[in-house]
Amino acid sequence: MSETVLDVRDLEAGYEPGVPIVRGASITVKKSEIVVVLGPNGAGKSSFIKAIAGLVPITGGTVFLDGKDITAAPAHTMVRLGLAFVPQTENIFPLMSVEDNLRVACGILERREIPTRIEEMYSAFPDLVRQRRTAAGNLSGGQRQMLAVARALIVHPKVLVLDEPSAGLSPKFVSMVFEMLAGIRKSGVTILLVEQNAKAALAIGDRAYVLVEGKDRHEGVASELWNDPVVAELYLGQRPRSADTGGAA
Ligand SMILES: Nc1ncnc2c1ncn2[C@@H]1O[C@H](COP(=O)(O)OP(=O)(O)OP(=O)(O)O)[C@@H](O)[C@H]1O
Ligand SMILES: [Mg+2]
Repeated sequence: MSETVLDVRDLEAGYEPGVPIVRGASITVKKSEIVVVLGPNGAGKSSFIKAIAGLVPITGGTVFLDGKDITAAPAHTMVRLGLAFVPQTENIFPLMSVEDNLRVACGILERREIPTRIEEMYSAFPDLVRQRRTAAGNLSGGQRQMLAVARALIVHPKVLVLDEPSAGLSPKFVSMVFEMLAGIRKSGVTILLVEQNAKAALAIGDRAYVLVEGKDRHEGVASELWNDPVVAELYLGQRPRSADTGGAA
């Protein structure tokens, strides 16, 4: 039996008292898996993973990371606990150089480990080494996402949680981001991924959940979900979005 890294049970969360947005959602993520959360617009996908990361108030349920209850842990302690969250936007400092972006992400590392770890990120993401002195705001969309992911990985998280890393990117960069995530998983990192780009996400994922109105309504093996009629139904007749058709979100 593979080890469960993230175990979310019956999570309830919302921005205002008495207005739950996440309504009893449960998922598990096992070691070295890529788990994808899909769902129609406004289903609460971002709110769900933000709540896991301590960024939206939780009113019910539990979040366990590596067997430890982190339900009440504040967002700023998550990196130390082993959870690295990459938000959809504002995930880098645009005025800082690429290297400074990496350096400031090293907060919890031992000082002497930092230079080695930055070099390791450059080996993993060769595009970044060529741009080490460039202001991050001048990177291409794909390279920006690469930097955001490198910033998250630099502290050796137990789980990497990403909100729509392919959003707003041109098709070339969309493929680049998904290839990057598949490569990261190969290196043993556990990934929880929210995506609108269902086809591409299911192609690299192991398992997936469909979230509708704040609740997990369906779960399955990623490679089987694309053609699963229940998924189409949960999207209310819409086909989940595919990168190659660029279909309506
Ligand atoms: N900061 C906020 N304050 C209050 N309500 C919010 C906030 N952010 C999101 N919501 C509400 O929560 C609900 C779910 O939004 P959320 O962004 O979690 O959905 P989503 O599934 O990520 O959607 P999308 O596919 O568009 O990214 C929406 O009704 C939205 O209006
Ligand atoms: Mg969202």
